[in-house]
Amino acid sequence: MASVTSLSDSVHQRLAAALSAALPQAGSADPLLRRSDRADFQANGILALAKKEKANPRELAAQVVSRVESGDVIKDIEVSGPGFLNITITDRAITETLAARYADDTGRLGVPHAEQPGTTVIDYAQPNVAKEMHVGHLRSAVIGDSVTQLLEFTGESVVRRHHIGDWGTQFGMLIQYLEEHPHELDHKADEVSGEEAMSNLDRIYKAARKLFDADEAFKTRARRRVVDLQAGEPRTLAMWQKFVDESKIYFFSVFEKLDMEIRDPDIVGESGYNDMLAETCRLLEESGVAVRSEGALCVFFDDIKGPDGKPVPLIVQKSDGGYGYAATDLSAIRDRVFNIKANTLLYVVDARQSLHFKMVFETARRAGWLNEDVKAVQLAFGTVLGKDGKPFKTREGETVRLVDLLDEAIDRASAVVREKAQDLSEEEIAERGTQVGIGAVKYADLSTSANRDYKFDLDQMVSLNGDTSVYLQYAYARIQSILRKAGEARPVAHPELELHEAERALGLHADSFAATVAEAAAEYAPHKMTAYLYQLASHYTTFYDKCPVLKAESPEQIENRLFLCDITARTLHRGMALLGIRTPERL
Ligand code: ARG
Repeated sequence: MASVTSLSDSVHQRLAAALSAALPQAGSADPLLRRSDRADFQANGILALAKKEKANPRELAAQVVSRVESGDVIKDIEVSGPGFLNITITDRAITETLAARYADDTGRLGVPHAEQPGTTVIDYAQPNVAKEMHVGHLRSAVIGDSVTQLLEFTGESVVRRHHIGDWGTQFGMLIQYLEEHPHELDHKADEVSGEEAMSNLDRIYKAARKLFDADEAFKTRARRRVVDLQAGEPRTLAMWQKFVDESKIYFFSVFEKLDMEIRDPDIVGESGYNDMLAETCRLLEESGVAVRSEGALCVFFDDIKGPDGKPVPLIVQKSDGGYGYAATDLSAIRDRVFNIKANTLLYVVDARQSLHFKMVFETARRAGWLNEDVKAVQLAFGTVLGKDGKPFKTREGETVRLVDLLDEAIDRASAVVREKAQDLSEEEIAERGTQVGIGAVKYADLSTSANRDYKFDLDQMVSLNGDTSVYLQYAYARIQSILRKAGEARPVAHPELELHEAERALGLHADSFAATVAEAAAEYAPHKMTAYLYQLASHYTTFYDKCPVLKAESPEQIENRLFLCDITARTLHRGMALLGIRTPERL
């Protein structure tokens, strides 16, 4: 594989070698290299090391400088302040490194795989059957999809699990209603659109609820139905399946609108763990991890208490024998650890479920299902707020339907695209409007760190100025237009050319894509990728202002600048793809 050593890694290696030559007892000390305003890089690690070894930091720094192998990479290295090192890279090294990335025909821009990739099961995009998808379901889907792309890009094998809510007592009510009103869901599944499927379900849900609240006899029949469902009575199961299938038509339509690939075999909902539940309880009870308390099977924690100071247990089995959300999640852990053989279980779930996961993970640890080799992490996300800073609601105070939001975003974006459109047809405007609108929603969601709440503000999201996906998409499209206008001139790297300050800044930033991928993937932090791309586009804008491309001084310089344009575009394209966002060639 054509993986390329980044400039920062190659400087790091040189400094580390010089450091251990200057101070053998330091072993493999980290020179702590950072990008810097004063030079290209600054190393700050010598200070702490000198302190530890009781050496004079400036003297140690000077020794490192005298021992460092600069090769063709380091142009200048000098001691500054109390013992920092300022490092300047040669123009040649910048261009050559980028040229090596450019030559990587796998489309990876020379980004290496992680050293020890493992298997991650990621639990995301998990709406609930027979219920409308709301804006909370957006976050799990968007963040989960991006983290999946990032992990896969580093070579991790990723198994997706969409833990949909497809089980529980409300299904007794729905099924009983359908049994008594048999034609309400009659149609061929492939003839129904997503919206239609949802409105069917919604109608049935409301009607069933009404009857359930008003009619005692129906209530009793509905409760009996739950028992039948849990016992696997075939007719009941078949009706339940109808609800699940109908909901999936709807889910798929929303995911498609979100431009996201969700595969049917990866949808393993709560019901998928049914035949593990009894065993899970038995294992927990026999090992003493769970105990019977007032008939229920419970797990207690020293540090988890309710407002009254009494311990709040995790209830694995209710006193009536029923199993809930916790038993299902504990069974899913067993499946993911022992059958799928994952090293990491990642849950992209609302922060409001953090206590649940804390208890579930601790229980699994006590049972020995999780340990040093197999870890579980909740990637907890915050709430989507309205412009007023309160949880997002319609004017009538209802939760906002996700599809309505997406449609509105697409409308707004189409208006922006239309306004700027020069040579786009109506059809193209519609297509770009969708890519820009969906991109805007995803980007806004991904660009704040997941654990924070954010305001859903469409005006801001589709703004052309500022940290938005539209800004990045325009940067990309503008580069494509330059490349088209270049005619005969091709992007070619010329390492012999001297670079302008703005070219250096752009080039150094483009080279740090690999480090950003590694960091964003390791920390499950797509916002690090958005920040990187925004900076990349900003560096590009400065470069474009300062350095004429097609009117550069010499044919070589034109080629080299086209090359810088193109590598920027490829990096933008690749980075945006890792966020699940399209980069149209024309806007
Ligand atoms: N269906 C749940 C909800 O909408 C999310 C499921 C999260 N995943 C899990 N393994 N519990 O809130």
